[in-house]
Amino acid sequence: MADRDTPLLHAVDVCKWFDLGNRRIDVLKGIDFSLYAGDMVGIVGRSGSGKSTLLHLLGTLDAPSRGEILYDGQRLDHLADQELAAFRNRFVGFVFQFHHLLPEMTAFENVLMPALIARAAQQPAQARARELLGRVGLGDRLDHHPGELSGGEQQRVALARALVMQPKVVLADEPTGNLDGRTAEEMHALLEELNRETGTAFVVVSHNQELARRMGKVVRMLDGRFVDDAPPGAVAAPTSAELDTIAASGPPNSDADQGGASTGAETTSEVVEHRSAGTTQRCAESGGSAEEAQA
Ligand SMILES: Nc1ncnc2c1ncn2[C@@H]1O[C@H](COP(=O)(O)OP(=O)(O)OP(=O)(O)O)[C@@H](O)[C@H]1O
Ligand SMILES: [Mg+2]
Repeated sequence: MADRDTPLLHAVDVCKWFDLGNRRIDVLKGIDFSLYAGDMVGIVGRSGSGKSTLLHLLGTLDAPSRGEILYDGQRLDHLADQELAAFRNRFVGFVFQFHHLLPEMTAFENVLMPALIARAAQQPAQARARELLGRVGLGDRLDHHPGELSGGEQQRVALARALVMQPKVVLADEPTGNLDGRTAEEMHALLEELNRETGTAFVVVSHNQELARRMGKVVRMLDGRFVDDAPPGAVAAPTSAELDTIAASGPPNSDADQGGASTGAETTSEVVEHRSAGTTQRCAESGGSAEEAQA
């Protein structure tokens, strides 16, 4: 178990922007975030607020434009790509928003893949893969290819794959997004169980208000910033109405996402703009002549 004083993940003033020709898209605008062993943190926020981008940075799949991320107290930016990939393989389990299973492999082989890449001992890895597929309710579907599974079943395979290496951190991008209410509930209960059993820390992006509420801590992203990171029940935590507003924005690419912001979100946005003005400036300053994106 990691030292409670050293976060497993520690993001310090992280900014991320993308240069598109002469235009700069500022996606993350000064994120500070700490994740400790045993933590279970939910991230909620409207479509396009930067949740997946943040998860990619936390998972070493991309690098911040500014700021730094420490992993178990260490910077990793000196590592070569291969070393970084090896670190990621052992330290982080990723459940992608669009689960990225290998279509030509069975569910069992997909789950086993991280262990194959790590050249981990095969017998215990195979036993874990079987156990995990059983726990996500797919014990009788081991030999099925992703094309033979429903979207939700594929998502459950992706969850098992994220857990097979027993990582310290699992980053899950809407892991229950394709699941019906009851299965989502069961999946969430499993995450909680694994969190308790193993001390694995979870960061879970969710549009599901009920599930988000159940996590130890919920942070809300709005326009590339954290609105707050207070424990549930504290004044600054998202209220039920706010979580309802976020949930109403629906899953990515839904019609609701493309529509206008709700009145509640706009009101909150104004408050946050005011509170985070200094941070925005810090991200914008480093851009030289690049334009800051229109939020
Ligand atoms: N490679 C990129 N180049 C330019 N813009 C990008 C890039 N990746 C992400 N963005 C932009 O960053 C913003 C945040 O994207 P992100 O995928 O992090 O949102 P999200 O909060 O995960 O949304 P959703 O709930 O729909 O999944 C979006 O406006 C997106 O267009
Ligand atoms: Mg996303």
